[in-house]
Amino acid sequence: MASDLTASVLEALAASDSPIQSNEAFPSTPSLNVKSALDRLASREMIKYETKEKEVLTLTPEGEEIAANGSHEAKVFDAVLKALDGLKIADLPGVVGEKNAKIAQGNAMKRRWVKLENGLLRPAQESIVDETRENLLTVQRTQSLPDAKALNDLKKRKLITLSKDIHFVISKGPKYAREFVKEETDLTFEMLNNGSWKTATFKPYNFNAKGTPALAGALHPLNKVRAEFRNIFFEMGFEEMPTNRYVETGFWNFDALFVPQQHPARDLQDTFYIADPLTADPPREDPLNDPPPSQSRTARFEYWNNVHEVHEKGKFGSIGYRYPWNKDESLRLVLRTHTTSVSAYVLHKLAANPRPARFFSIDRVFRNEAVDATHLAEFHQIEGVIADFGLTLGGLIGFMEVFFAKMGIHQLRFKPAYNPYTEPSMEIFGYHEGLGKWVEIGNSGMFRPEMLESMGIPKNMQVYGWGLSLERPTMIKYGVSNIRELLGHKVDLNFIESNPAVRLEKE
Ligand code: PHE
Repeated sequence: MASDLTASVLEALAASDSPIQSNEAFPSTPSLNVKSALDRLASREMIKYETKEKEVLTLTPEGEEIAANGSHEAKVFDAVLKALDGLKIADLPGVVGEKNAKIAQGNAMKRRWVKLENGLLRPAQESIVDETRENLLTVQRTQSLPDAKALNDLKKRKLITLSKDIHFVISKGPKYAREFVKEETDLTFEMLNNGSWKTATFKPYNFNAKGTPALAGALHPLNKVRAEFRNIFFEMGFEEMPTNRYVETGFWNFDALFVPQQHPARDLQDTFYIADPLTADPPREDPLNDPPPSQSRTARFEYWNNVHEVHEKGKFGSIGYRYPWNKDESLRLVLRTHTTSVSAYVLHKLAANPRPARFFSIDRVFRNEAVDATHLAEFHQIEGVIADFGLTLGGLIGFMEVFFAKMGIHQLRFKPAYNPYTEPSMEIFGYHEGLGKWVEIGNSGMFRPEMLESMGIPKNMQVYGWGLSLERPTMIKYGVSNIRELLGHKVDLNFIESNPAVRLEKE
């Protein structure tokens, strides 16, 4: 036991005038235990000690066996020498054991100690020198072998191992005493009461000790980057949209956005459909809000009919898609594939009282995608919408430059793109200084009149919209290359806990 050991060390020092060697004084105690006892004594300056390290060569059990009884090939030679009529190969396992027979025979023949004649082993020499055994005996005796190559050979054959032997040279320290006095760690009520504090020895404070890490919750990196984006939006006068509905109707997710019912995005392969219940109810009276002053029940049905008509035969100057619009398709329930469904809903509310407005949302969306390093079946979208009178495409580009500059992206490129609900539409590319390349950072456009006028947004009001993923900038910010390290069951909680707060570089 460690406490016994400290006593034994003090005892051993008392009996000797010169330093003592731990390997002589405590030959059978593991050096780790000796060290911990010595450290306790040394911290109180009762002793001093030095660590000595030495490399030692030890024979492995097989090495020991060979040193004692000779190498397998030498045993083969001896057996062959004794067998006057030659030795059958089949007899070798009886001499050196099953697993050594083949190698031993091979080595004995290679060294030309034995030869094979008519299927029988016969001696090829009168006597041999078993060098392996001689070398092992030398190592055993002298802890060394002059022939470096032979030494290496023994190591390779796992007959010897090199290990470190640690021992300590111990001498008395300035506060040496024969007895190890227990140090008090706390000043207690009893000590004050009975006066024992006057004679007690107190353990000195260790001001270098590290405290235990405090337990605390941690924000997920996505939450931290989300908080930054929210600040940017609030700074620019945006209102947050309510995104608490993961399940949407096909109407808000697609039809309201002028996405035709045959559009590939509406396929099972791209969208998750809800099985139970399969559909939502058609628009109905809202007992609490109907009739609201400006958006009556009639207005609601008018909107529904407008969407129907603008798809099926065109309206508001559009020729429409000209296909039979199916109301059941628009009532099917889906996991929203983008937060633009929320934007559509909020714009429809705005239509009751059209005014310049800015809205944003940051929340989860779902897509039936093959999962790989950069795609999951769910991710987060950052979306912004600006409604105002007389907006132009140039204004959208200008706004994007201001918006992305707030994240430290100062060079943008725009590429014409297609969205069913915006015209014109643009993909946004940003030059990423850190990555040294252009990366796609978002999608944008001006919402189509087919969508806006169906809702009742006046003709002279235009609406910008744009969207980007929250994961992309987060992965870049935190240097994560696989999205599964960020989201899902493979996330390392240490990574979440130890990550610093994030700041998007501001202008
Ligand atoms: N909904 C688009 C997307 O999922 C983003 C977008 C929003 C584009 C608004 C234009 C207008 O990528």
